Amino acid sequence: MNNKTETNDLLQQNYSRVAIFLHWLIALMVMMNIVGGLLFSCNIILFSNQMLLHKQSGVIILALVIVRIIWRLSHEYPRLTGSIPASEEVLAKFGQLLLYFLMLTVPLSGLIFVQSAGHNPTFAGYHLPILMPFLTASDVPQLELLHTSLAIFFATLILGHTIAALKHHFIDKKRVLVRILPKFLRRE
Ligand code: HEM
Repeated sequence: MNNKTETNDLLQQNYSRVAIFLHWLIALMVMMNIVGGLLFSCNIILFSNQMLLHKQSGVIILALVIVRIIWRLSHEYPRLTGSIPASEEVLAKFGQLLLYFLMLTVPLSGLIFVQSAGHNPTFAGYHLPILMPFLTASDVPQLELLHTSLAIFFATLILGHTIAALKHHFIDKKRVLVRILPKFLRRE
């Protein structure tokens, strides 16, 4: 057995259907929301409810991320250990931890920012609790800056994460990307 086959054997275990569904649903919604937010900050308005959609989907992303984290902590996930060089594994784990952190903090900072500005988005028709009632309209510029900076950092990290996944797939020929793809897209 050559080295490539051995390391690929360690990657044979696929992600579960729920994990795959949550990964790609959240990935798609996050990327759309980042594009929507960036367009808005460049004053590019494509349709009248663009900001409303951004806020509502931010709240849905937050709810989905909470479900995903609970699922992650309560289920076994495929490991990377030994399948890629140790330095890349440390980087991948640190990157994934940061992605979870930003999946929570980007929508949370947005919610706190709009609540301080006096708007409270709804979830399933219900108003959300005011997360930081001690913040006021005078804090809005700093909160907006925080939300935007975190979102830019998030977009950069997603780009790095995507490039790494494509490198493992096309250059290293590892199953890292294949094992998180929906079954109908796996050609093997
Ligand atoms: C086209 C874009 C994307 C590609 C190609 C991609 C690819 C991948 C791959 C291959 C893995 C599995 C790594 C492994 O086997 O350990 C993974 C895991 C992960 N991805 Fe992505 N991803 C993308 C977008 C995103 C986005 C937008 C986010 C954040 C919202 C994200 C968050 C994560 C997280 C947190 C994990 C770790 C899952 C876990 O094991 O807990 N990904 N991604």
